[in-house]
Amino acid sequence: MNTTVPTSVYAQRRARLAAQLGGNGIAIVPTAPERPRNRDSDFLYRHDSYFYYLTGFTEPNAWLVITGDGKSTLFCQPKDLEREIWDGYRLGPEAAVGALAVDGAFPVNELDAQMPRLLENRGTVWFPFAIHQGLEQRVAGWLNQVRARVRYGALCPEQQSDLCALLDEMRLVKDAHEQDVMRRAAAISARAHVRTMQACARMLREGRDVREFHLDAELMHEFRMGGSQYPAYSSIVAAGANACVLHYRADVAPVRAGELVLIDAGCELDGYASDITRTFPADGKFTGPQLALYDIVLASQEAAVAATRPGARFTDPHEAAVKVLAQGMLDVGLLDRAKVGSLEDVIEKRAYFPFYMHRTGHWLGMDVHDCGSYVEPGEVGQVSERKDPLSGEIIKNRPSRVLRPGMVLTIEPGIYVRPGDGVPEAFHNIGIRIEDDAIVTAQGCELITRGVPVRADEIEAVMRA
Ligand code: GLY
Ligand code: MN
Ligand code: MN
Repeated sequence: MNTTVPTSVYAQRRARLAAQLGGNGIAIVPTAPERPRNRDSDFLYRHDSYFYYLTGFTEPNAWLVITGDGKSTLFCQPKDLEREIWDGYRLGPEAAVGALAVDGAFPVNELDAQMPRLLENRGTVWFPFAIHQGLEQRVAGWLNQVRARVRYGALCPEQQSDLCALLDEMRLVKDAHEQDVMRRAAAISARAHVRTMQACARMLREGRDVREFHLDAELMHEFRMGGSQYPAYSSIVAAGANACVLHYRADVAPVRAGELVLIDAGCELDGYASDITRTFPADGKFTGPQLALYDIVLASQEAAVAATRPGARFTDPHEAAVKVLAQGMLDVGLLDRAKVGSLEDVIEKRAYFPFYMHRTGHWLGMDVHDCGSYVEPGEVGQVSERKDPLSGEIIKNRPSRVLRPGMVLTIEPGIYVRPGDGVPEAFHNIGIRIEDDAIVTAQGCELITRGVPVRADEIEAVMRA
């Protein structure tokens, strides 16, 4: 259970949700299942983010039911001394009422018996669509039991609605408690990046055989020492050319002096993710070509940061970054003006795409790629069409989300240079990304991950230390 956020915060979130269900609505929110890994071993358990947002409760086998009149019912694992000897402490339904401030709690083995009763005489049943395998069928089974009682005067819900539509909007704007946890997660991850850069330079100075997994171990050490439960996603530790593989994992490749290391890693703390990328020279000194590209990526990130403020659109930081990246690619000869034309042409035809093929950010929260629509809800109907210059696909554009204080997003431009015809050799196999986490504030944005330096000279200095 999360003990750093008061129980009342979760109760308030449930009340806000209940007010949107309609007086006759009911919402069903399961937590995540336990998943087997291999014989007798499960994957490390991670609760469901929606369930956690409404309860702060991290045990498996639990369900939350909220009704439009504001009442919450929890189903959770019953107390069971034998199971607790093997698997650990369970809160149990009796204690749950006080500990989680719900109105009622039952053992989870009573779920199938209680749900038809709870669903009876409701109008709309809300649950997360397409998230929990088998949930749709389970709800259908409960509704069939209600229908069987129609002749006795029971009413069966006529509508089913996607609960994510409501919860995604709520989760998109982070409250003060969430921001506080996210700042702390970001600070731990920043320390982990500093530690890893320094360990890398030190091990190379000592003449050791440094591998990507050694650096992964340094990250994990700092995450756990900081109290993080686990990494928020699989850490990317990519030495040299591996940095050009976007979803590379920490593997066994040697980390060599003269090459760059790209690390994309962030811890999860009390259910909230952080997401940082730094690219640094393995031995602590950038070469000329590395620095030339690094400074372009950094300048593009600065432009994106400046574009991250309330009232701006989600796509504005991306467009600002692309402009600087494209100009930089022309300036250093990654793009040949004679072939691709002017800056405007490069942007219009997306000629930068071979070297920058991802977006500049995403929402960040409990999930590293957090929920929340990227389209402004009031403007979904304003559709324009354009043909993608690279794929030829017709793309439907809808107005991008307007940024508001409390939204949290990453800002992560990069340049990735695979060898190819006409690509200057000095840049071959250089992959650079710089990623920070930003909370939109009333004035602009707050970068919560800057406990790790980002300027090339500052990275070099910290690696000498
Ligand atoms: N680490 C995943 C991402 O940066 O989106
Ligand atoms: Mn990211
Ligand atoms: Mn990342």
